[in-house]
Amino acid sequence: MTERIRGLIGKLASEHRLSEAEYAGLIACPDAAPMLAERAVAARRAIYGDAVYTRGLIEISNICKNDCLYCGIRRSNKDVERYRLSPEAILACAEEGYSLGFRTFVMQGGEDAHFTDAVLCGIVAAVKARFPDCAVTLSMGERSRDSYQRLFDAGADRYLLRHETADAAHYARLHPGEMSFENRMRCLMDLREIGYEVGCGFMVGSPFQTPQTLAKDLKFIEDFRPEMCGIGPFIPHHATPFKDEPAGTLEQTLMLLSIIRLIHPSVLLPATTALGTIHPRGRELGILAGANVVMPNLSPTGVRKQYELYDNKICTGDESAQCRQCLDRRMRGIGYRLVVDRGDYKAL
Ligand code: 5AD
Ligand code: FES
Repeated sequence: MTERIRGLIGKLASEHRLSEAEYAGLIACPDAAPMLAERAVAARRAIYGDAVYTRGLIEISNICKNDCLYCGIRRSNKDVERYRLSPEAILACAEEGYSLGFRTFVMQGGEDAHFTDAVLCGIVAAVKARFPDCAVTLSMGERSRDSYQRLFDAGADRYLLRHETADAAHYARLHPGEMSFENRMRCLMDLREIGYEVGCGFMVGSPFQTPQTLAKDLKFIEDFRPEMCGIGPFIPHHATPFKDEPAGTLEQTLMLLSIIRLIHPSVLLPATTALGTIHPRGRELGILAGANVVMPNLSPTGVRKQYELYDNKICTGDESAQCRQCLDRRMRGIGYRLVVDRGDYKAL
């Protein structure tokens, strides 16, 4: 590693920002990873100690009106059996999750017209009424500002909407013409203004991604300062136009986790299921690179295989309790501990 790169890491750790050219240079230098990870872990430890937060993920629908080129549940994929969970089934997942120690529930789904504001507000309100000590996170895609406001008023605390890429031309190559980068950004700004804790994020190694587009993603994170940031490797899905594209790498994902931790030391940063899919110890390595959240699946085992955004997704055959225990063991194995806690964002 050159003196220049060492200098950049020092500057990032103390000033929490670099220029786009500097980010692109850092990303292009794999040798920087160990030093980045060491600094990232120190930054995370100073705020969150050895706690790893968990969120119980409930995949409420795989029906989607969109046709994102990378995604296995895109509407053009006629090979998926579509499902949506009833409010009762969702509450049953949360009930099981609560008894396993989850204090945040993430309800995620495709853009399914069935989930009108009235339906979704009813579910949010029911979960909050039953589990007043839990946080509710929604990850239901692009909606109107009014809709986000109603869901917030019904009790939703947080919203995850990955920006996918901060480069408009790159965005256009990953999405069909009817979707727009401007609307994605509008959604994120609305969510922030309404008062949600907001999560953005992107896939590492998505088709047409370059060090320059990644540098823009990092600049966006600097400016937007999301409370949460979800990144994981792109993994091709066999029934999408990107089926022959290479997956993102473990090494690059770990390096970006470390860089994001140094940009924004208090961000809630998951070691994602996609990372666990490309490497058997991907989630552990993610924590050791600076992540501090894991999001095991609480969906009913009967539908898990159908929520396949990418090929070979892990944990589709495991009971929720098995996943919790498995992660508990994995985290203890690397000297961390899963905590029973809402895992709120700590503003510095
Ligand atoms: N590989 C990895 N991540 C994917 N996502 C969608 N499709 C894939 C894929 N093929 C991610 C997107 C989306 C999130 C819910 O899952 O970034 O925002
Ligand atoms: Fe699901 Fe390990 S986390 S089986």
